[in-house]
Amino acid sequence: MLVLGIETSCDETGIALYDTDRGLLAHALHSQVALHADYGGVVPELASRDHIRRVLPLTRAVLRDAGARLADLDAVAYTAGPGLAGALLVGAGIGTSLAHALGIPALPIHHLEGHLLSPLLAKPSPQFPFIALLVSGGHTQLMQVKGVGDYSLLGETLDDAAGEAFDKSAKLLGLGYPGGPAVAALAASGRAGQFALPRPMLRSDNLDFSFSGLKTAVLTAVRDLPAGDQARADLAAELQAAIVDVLVGKSIAAVEQTGVTRLVVAGGVGANRRLREQLTAAARRLGCTVYYPPFEFCTDNGAMIAFAGALRLQQGNQPPATPGFTVRPRWDLGSLSKA
Ligand code: KG4
Ligand code: ZN
Repeated sequence: MLVLGIETSCDETGIALYDTDRGLLAHALHSQVALHADYGGVVPELASRDHIRRVLPLTRAVLRDAGARLADLDAVAYTAGPGLAGALLVGAGIGTSLAHALGIPALPIHHLEGHLLSPLLAKPSPQFPFIALLVSGGHTQLMQVKGVGDYSLLGETLDDAAGEAFDKSAKLLGLGYPGGPAVAALAASGRAGQFALPRPMLRSDNLDFSFSGLKTAVLTAVRDLPAGDQARADLAAELQAAIVDVLVGKSIAAVEQTGVTRLVVAGGVGANRRLREQLTAAARRLGCTVYYPPFEFCTDNGAMIAFAGALRLQQGNQPPATPGFTVRPRWDLGSLSKA
């Protein structure tokens, strides 16, 4: 079965074709980073308008790359939430119209389910059950994944997401958007430990996170920052170390608590090399294996949406045949299991 995936929840237009027999056939991505750069963050209205310009040309390109035609499609999967309402509406509107015109199902996909299943696009891929650390710009969650559609929340952030901590601190450090890669690049020439940033909730007796205090600590450090590039790099290194320490500590605690020895990392922050190194090392000491999506599928992309749609389709999990659609800018991933 051939599924077209459309991702437009935030600032990347991602389109992909996934075949349940042959795997990922083609994918294309347009990043709006340059479009929003001057504003220091995503401007929702500009994001929506750009998605409108990109979805159809990228869809044509992906079909051409795969040597497929619209008539070959068996379903269209689109990100229905969570995300920016206007941006989501573009993918949902085009995806649903296309499916309706072709007489095939339109599959509304939860963006985080896409991220969560994205490590299954890599080889070797994890068996169920696994623990998933979801770390993106908007979310930081630990989930227990027993199968497709069977997700239970173990812990989540009480305030800022890990990616948000990178993004907001990057702004304070005078770095561009998105902050994560910028902080990581600056940290490469810095030394962690030269500043003392907190590791919020690392020792709490639950699996929740809190990152907003870190941003405040960075603000204070930036105010008293000694002149020169080295101090900025050292602060970036300490910030990255603090976020990574907390993410690793909580993920390991989740493994210990559940006894599940497969850990999956998904979402944009999963591209962070220090996180990968530290988590892999800590997990190995417990006899636990860590799985990552291919680097290009860590941040938002269409492949994970096409893939999640294909798995849903295989499960016979068909949405109602009534035409029309809705988007859910706020949507709790745990609610999928109860549906
Ligand atoms: O999953 P994603 O592309 O979009 C959301 O759904 O949010 O994640 C974007 C987030 C941003 O906060 C960005 O700063 C962060 O992922 N990010 C990174 C890295 N690459 C992207 N954070 C740390 N290190 C990176 N290398
Ligand atoms: Zn995302």
